[in-house]
Amino acid sequence: MKTSIKIVARLLVMAGLVMGTQAFAQDKTVADGVFTDAQVEAGKQVYDDSCSSCHNMRFYQDTLRSWNSQPLLYLWEAVLGTMPADNPGSLMLDEYTNVLAYILNENGFPTGETELDPDNGMSDISILPPK
Ligand code: HEC
Repeated sequence: MKTSIKIVARLLVMAGLVMGTQAFAQDKTVADGVFTDAQVEAGKQVYDDSCSSCHNMRFYQDTLRSWNSQPLLYLWEAVLGTMPADNPGSLMLDEYTNVLAYILNENGFPTGETELDPDNGMSDISILPPK
């Protein structure tokens, strides 16, 4: 019973995300300076400690390519739920956000004034393939 309530709650959240995505046109992309220098710097540490042992930057380049035009929030959620593969969900939420900023920056996307924040507009930022 407990489990089914959880599942229903999860489905409602997902439905909300999908509807939210449809309601607000995605007017921003990862090329619009959607993360800060400080986030990139903090993310590099996370990357070196927790992400670089299993895949290299080439892998992330391919990932961004295959996630082309998807909301950035979905990638954040996928990484949060599955990575690091040897201990999923073990990092702080901020660390997942920062490491995504670092990966995007390494793939040529610029920093800006606004912090990347999963609670604020990240479903309206779409992923672009790196050049
Ligand atoms: C212990 C090894 C390991 C570590 C550490 C690890 N990963 Fe992964 N990662 C994998 C494996 C295995 C897959 C899935 C198989 C594949 O696509 O190569 C994967 C897949 C991914 C994907 C593709 C997801 C998708 O659905 O397209 C991303 C993005 C990713 N990892 C990011 C990260 C980040 C960020 C970190 C650091 C927080 C990290 N990984 C740490 C092993 C690892």
